[in-house]
Amino acid sequence: MLNFSFHNTTKIHFGEGQISAISKEIPKDARVLMVYGGGSIKSNGVYDQVVEALTNHTWFEFSGIEPNPNYDTLMKAQAIIEAENIDYLLAVGGGSVVDGVKFISAAAKFEGEDPWDIVAKGAPVKAAISIGAVLTLPATGSESNNGSVVTRDGNKLPFGSPLVRPQFAVLDPKVTLSLSERQVANGVVDAFVHIMEQYLTYDVNGKVQDRFSEGLLLTLIEEGPKALASETKDDLEVRANIMWSATMALNGLIGAGVPQDWATHMIGHELTASHGIDHARTLSIVLPAVMKVRREQKRGKLVQYAERVWNITEGSDDLKIDAAIAATENFFKQMQVPTRISDEGIEQSYIDTWVNALETHGMTKLGERGEVTLEVSKQILETAY
Ligand code: NZQ
Ligand code: ZN
Repeated sequence: MLNFSFHNTTKIHFGEGQISAISKEIPKDARVLMVYGGGSIKSNGVYDQVVEALTNHTWFEFSGIEPNPNYDTLMKAQAIIEAENIDYLLAVGGGSVVDGVKFISAAAKFEGEDPWDIVAKGAPVKAAISIGAVLTLPATGSESNNGSVVTRDGNKLPFGSPLVRPQFAVLDPKVTLSLSERQVANGVVDAFVHIMEQYLTYDVNGKVQDRFSEGLLLTLIEEGPKALASETKDDLEVRANIMWSATMALNGLIGAGVPQDWATHMIGHELTASHGIDHARTLSIVLPAVMKVRREQKRGKLVQYAERVWNITEGSDDLKIDAAIAATENFFKQMQVPTRISDEGIEQSYIDTWVNALETHGMTKLGERGEVTLEVSKQILETAY
């Protein structure tokens, strides 16, 4: 196992009715900015629950954060933060809102000229406004991690800082019932791929991490399709298991002390940046190709994945790996997400555009050993076509 330090400071309030907990989590004298997206929280009752919980607080609101949050939108929040002396940000929404709030928080305290430097140049985050989150879409894990992904002018890039990790997060599975099937599926697939990015690398004898990861993968394989099936889609137990899996998939626990990949994500970001493909749907396209192209480097873990997650125990290692990749693709198909670039009706000639964008963004040594060069990324994209 590799050395690690693990410290997740986000307090989780899980379960039905827990939105009321925000009233005691946010300091009474705080000046709160509630930040949300395009308005889903107004139609599913979440907005009303938050307003009720903030009865004894001084609060303001900022809305309009779009999926794949955009720098220009996020910078508009700075005016109200300054004018109203905001010192607490409450994100109410999916990963895009939480990520957006993380950037707003760091940008508000940034002392350099352009806060975009935090994302584009890795300028250090030295201060940030405190954040709380009410999560409405289980997927990204953003509610209890220190990462964020922001887009500006077609550049979709991550940044991270412990200062932007939410202090608390409310996870009420009931609020996920209003999600479209597409967003439910996206969430399950995003969480699944987060686990794979931290699991499917090379063996360092991290038994706890491996078995936690396998447990989470098995849970998503079992519960994901139930959240789409008409008889079970409104089952709160199903939603609860998916929600907790998605948080655990990317809260730092399973990734501590093991190598991590993230090539699928970085390549996927270019597909979203240029064609607006939903984040999770880029991952379901890229991951199977990563498994195929990086098969030799990931051999040991692929066999373990085949045996322990898909119960494929017969035949040679190569046959097990083939079957595990096929099972992964079938799972994605069952979740109604694409597994090929061509499924999205995009021409093959864009592959060069994406490879160039990876180069521009410095994504030239991806993967757990930095071996995913531009050439390998190209091979992955060609395999994914
Ligand atoms: O904007 P509203 O009206 O709220 O609608 C949203 C949005 O249109 C809707 N929605 C959310 N909760 C709902 C709901 N609709 C009905 N009922 C509800 N309860 O869903 C749509 C998509 O929301 P979004 O927040 O974009 O989805 P998701 O949570 O999948 O977040 C995706 C973003 O997170 C980033 C992605 O790159 C992408 O930008 N990621 C962040 C990570 C992190 N911070 O650690 C890791 C991930 O890998 C990911 O990259
Ligand atoms: Zn993701």
